Amino acid sequence: MAGETTLLILGASGDLTSRLLLPALGQLLTIEPYRRIRLRGAGMDDWDDARWREVVRAAFASAGFEAAFDSVSATEYVRADITAPADLARLLADHDGRLALYFAVPPAVAKAACEAFAEVDIPAGTVLALEKPFGVDEATARELNTTLERLVPEAQVFRIDHFLGRSTTLNLLGVRFANRVFAPVWSAQDIESVVIRYDETLGLEGRAGYYDKAGALADMIQSHLLQVMAILAMEPPATLHERDFRDATSAVLRATHVWGDDPATASRRARYTAGTVGDRRLPAYVDEPGVEPARQTETLAELVCEVRNERWRGVPFTLRSGKALPEKKGEVVVTFRRVNHVPEGLTGPAPGSVLRFSLGPDHMDLELNVNGGDDPFELERETIGADLGEGALKAYGEVLSGILDADATLAVRGDAAEESWRIVDPVLAAWRADEVPLQEYPAGSLGPGGWPALP
Ligand code: BG6
Repeated sequence: MAGETTLLILGASGDLTSRLLLPALGQLLTIEPYRRIRLRGAGMDDWDDARWREVVRAAFASAGFEAAFDSVSATEYVRADITAPADLARLLADHDGRLALYFAVPPAVAKAACEAFAEVDIPAGTVLALEKPFGVDEATARELNTTLERLVPEAQVFRIDHFLGRSTTLNLLGVRFANRVFAPVWSAQDIESVVIRYDETLGLEGRAGYYDKAGALADMIQSHLLQVMAILAMEPPATLHERDFRDATSAVLRATHVWGDDPATASRRARYTAGTVGDRRLPAYVDEPGVEPARQTETLAELVCEVRNERWRGVPFTLRSGKALPEKKGEVVVTFRRVNHVPEGLTGPAPGSVLRFSLGPDHMDLELNVNGGDDPFELERETIGADLGEGALKAYGEVLSGILDADATLAVRGDAAEESWRIVDPVLAAWRADEVPLQEYPAGSLGPGGWPALP
């Protein structure tokens, strides 16, 4: 039975809390009813307990977990300025069991709060959970890490990346490490290329305040897709425990560089114009409220990287993500090399086999060359597919369970956060210097023409 934890949400009256965090908590408490959690909310808004409880109840209900509300129904709300040491001291004094602090606030507020924590006694074992973006480049990520190091040990800092909680991301591990058909061929010797793609149909959805300063590269590639890449490319760890797992993924990021060290040729960027996605008409990105067109924020980004080590040198890893695209498509595509020789007498093309993991609905396909049904000497392509379970917990629930268990395996470690900025910083600099044109694509189209075709 898990011991009691006090989950204190800083920024409790904000949108992230009600949209993501509370529904995930509702699910977690439904699936794992043995957890004893004291929930507290803190924020600047002048709310009382009744108003906060109603927000929690409604958020649980919105995700179908209303019954779980009973176990946190005594939740309280405290009005507090989390950047003021006196308010923080008051908040921290009142807790049962281990304390987990979740910063559901904009990055500037989280940073100011972390600085204010330096003047407060933090109870032993306290966990700090921070949402992305973690800094805006390598230097600011390092600065924030230095601030955090003074507060609690690294294993108690959770830099949230919900992609690490996705069951398909974790399926990569089982398929690769538990099958002799894949484990020995998982390297440049047999793999030709890897694509990690997350296309979304969503547009800006009222998030200009955050997104217009981030853009697709920072919002998705720096924060999520590089982590997925690190899991795919890591050396086999002895265990999947926190230390082994994160040592292995960090080593990948340290070895990763922009392809050819040339961001101008290894990256592409574009921004959507007005168009129709499904039955939704979207205005041009630049016409969305709050967007500053001169920022030249991209809504579609592609970056080719190389993991420069013995296992992967020479294999392009293409990471791509964008908004307002015609189809939601999140996938990891591993393309194997062609065989050296197809015996004479077998006709037809024999492209390399392709292993494809779809990130929701969770599915896996293996495309193979097989003998034809009509003419057995003519090769045909067939696909073997399997639906993979969704995972009992959704991604945020998985992440939250790690926080409550104080197990940081599925959180981004400080050095990894710095490394992922180190990888993309030269790209952002090249974009600022206009070395890569900002192209356009109508919302609902496949993106600008002329980009290399992806498998
Ligand atoms: C978030 C990004 O981290 O991930 C969003 O900020 C993006 O822009 C989202 O839409 C995608 O993840 P999911 O799980 O919501 O599809």
